[in-house]
Amino acid sequence: MKTNTMNAAEFTSQGHWRTLAACAACMLALMGCHPDMWNQPRFAALQKSGFFTDGRASRDPVPGTIQYDGQRRPWKSAVFEGISGGQLTVPSIMDDTFYTGRQGEGFKADNYFPVSAELLARGRERYDVTCTPCHGFAGDGFGVVTRRGFPNPPSFHIDRLREVEDGYLFDVMTNGFGRMYSYAARVTPEDRWAIAAYIRALQFSQYAPLDTVPADVKEAILNPQPVVENPADSSAAHH
Ligand code: HEC
Repeated sequence: MKTNTMNAAEFTSQGHWRTLAACAACMLALMGCHPDMWNQPRFAALQKSGFFTDGRASRDPVPGTIQYDGQRRPWKSAVFEGISGGQLTVPSIMDDTFYTGRQGEGFKADNYFPVSAELLARGRERYDVTCTPCHGFAGDGFGVVTRRGFPNPPSFHIDRLREVEDGYLFDVMTNGFGRMYSYAARVTPEDRWAIAAYIRALQFSQYAPLDTVPADVKEAILNPQPVVENPADSSAAHH
């Protein structure tokens, strides 16, 4: 009587052993017995090497390398050198506000540094490098990665963010906010202050109160002159 089961003899007699052998070969190949990826060529410290002419595998530190001893040296930063010629003294920058943006119960209302062209230039440069992928060059929240599905950050030109303290902007960069991660490891505190100053400039560029505008520009804003679409036409009309 025919059943659906078969014994080993029937199985192999039908040529299935070929299939089995092929499978086994495939599996061995897929297991990847090559240890190359585990044991990559490398040198131990102070080992000999024929690669470099001096016969040593270890390299000297590149010129200008500073030994890291866990000390911060903020007075070496571009911000300090730019705005003070490196003259700021250490104690004045070591207070809590400098690192937290907080002062008293709340956030520091204005910038930690006197706002200068140098500070803004540094802030712009760092902002353009670090923040524009998401926030965009104008701070409107339409950075390039948002076109690929990253959630849009809020625009800096909304009332709420116009009204926050400089220290709050510093805090967002330091600790992150919602879906935005912290930039503390990527942006030094002094650069975070410079960026906060630049965000203020961006906001001002989109929302300058009329009485801050120079007199002649104000006049042009209040009494706009009709724009002549095509000067050639208007001169023809006069003849
Ligand atoms: C990887 C994308 C990304 C980068 C880069 C980024 N942000 Fe953000 N940022 C966001 C997102 C998303 C939000 C909104 C987070 C939320 O509401 O969950 C946000 C929110 C903010 C806010 C508003 C917080 C509030 O109260 O609504 C500020 C201010 C801000 N970011 C500043 C910065 C600055 C300054 C930089 C550069 C140092 C920066 N961000 C870099 C994505 C980014």
